[in-house]
Amino acid sequence: MHTDAVKWTSSGAVYLLDQTLLPDETAYLEVDTIDAMVEAIRALRVRGAPLIGVAASMGIAAAANRMAVDGSLPGEKTAALSWLESACDTMARARPTAVNLAWAVNRLRSAVVERLSTVNDDDTAEVMVRTLRREAQRMWDEDAAMCSAMATAGAVLLPAASSVMTHCNTGMLATGGIGTALGVIRMAHEQGRVKEVYACEARPLRQGSRLTAWELARLDIPCTVVVDSAAATVMAQGRVNAVILGADRIAANGDVANKIGTQNLAIIAKEYGIPFYVAAPTSTFDLDAASGVAIPIEERPADEVATAEGVKVYNPAFDVTPAHLISGIITDRGVIEPPYGESIRRLFD
Ligand code: MRU
Repeated sequence: MHTDAVKWTSSGAVYLLDQTLLPDETAYLEVDTIDAMVEAIRALRVRGAPLIGVAASMGIAAAANRMAVDGSLPGEKTAALSWLESACDTMARARPTAVNLAWAVNRLRSAVVERLSTVNDDDTAEVMVRTLRREAQRMWDEDAAMCSAMATAGAVLLPAASSVMTHCNTGMLATGGIGTALGVIRMAHEQGRVKEVYACEARPLRQGSRLTAWELARLDIPCTVVVDSAAATVMAQGRVNAVILGADRIAANGDVANKIGTQNLAIIAKEYGIPFYVAAPTSTFDLDAASGVAIPIEERPADEVATAEGVKVYNPAFDVTPAHLISGIITDRGVIEPPYGESIRRLFD
């Protein structure tokens, strides 16, 4: 069964599946302004590193389309590009850790700048809208293809009838396709390599117990939800053959930023000799970040963590897993292994 996490409306706006309501309610939200898309990204109505890049790009295309229709999109080239510049910057700041967001809006901006360089002022608005929509769609299609490529490359790493542990949500609710880690798990299940999945809850917003469990149930893949703090017990009991999860940004040395709690899982997996895999498309690598220290880590509002009034809360949304704890990184161009400084350089050569 398939539910699109994002779709175009017939009028050129974007429908977002509001993920904050899942699994209780399946409701779409229509978005055609920059502010509404930024709100949706910040509130995690749409989330997951690759998907926020795609959704932000679609949101900019939808906003430009609406403004072209009501006549408020500047017709003059410099003014139109300045609107785009500001829309891209605002979007990129919405969630700083996942590099896919900045990567996507930069690519969108470059595509428009290049295309507009050959166009008269008269055609600016129309060409801009068309280019934005085409480039956003291209990134969505490419992301879907990268998910499939990762699934093919990663599934074979798992021995027959494995039990795997995963964290947060990395499936079709987080990407433009079948998912990163969850795409690998899905293909491995089809091949008889995965018999069950332990999904960590992913506190505080429970992307694991709400979203991953929902996706796996619809795919008929046996899933057991565990609270994050049960992971060591489950691994110590020998119930897990491999841990596989996604990434929001991978530094040039292989350090991986991902949902808070990922580093705990990597340390526990190391202790019990369990392979620990990360699945991420090439759009998640940031070669400008030499190591995890350079990755900005989002902090979320205190009210996401229930506590007594007046008590301080520290609520980082992501952590950085050091490269030496990672057995392999599954990408759309194949699986890379340590030493990651070298293998990542080769991946992008
Ligand atoms: O805060 P979220 O829900 O956007 O966090 C998502 C994750 O941490 C995923 O593991 C990551 O984006 C990789 S998903 C394909």
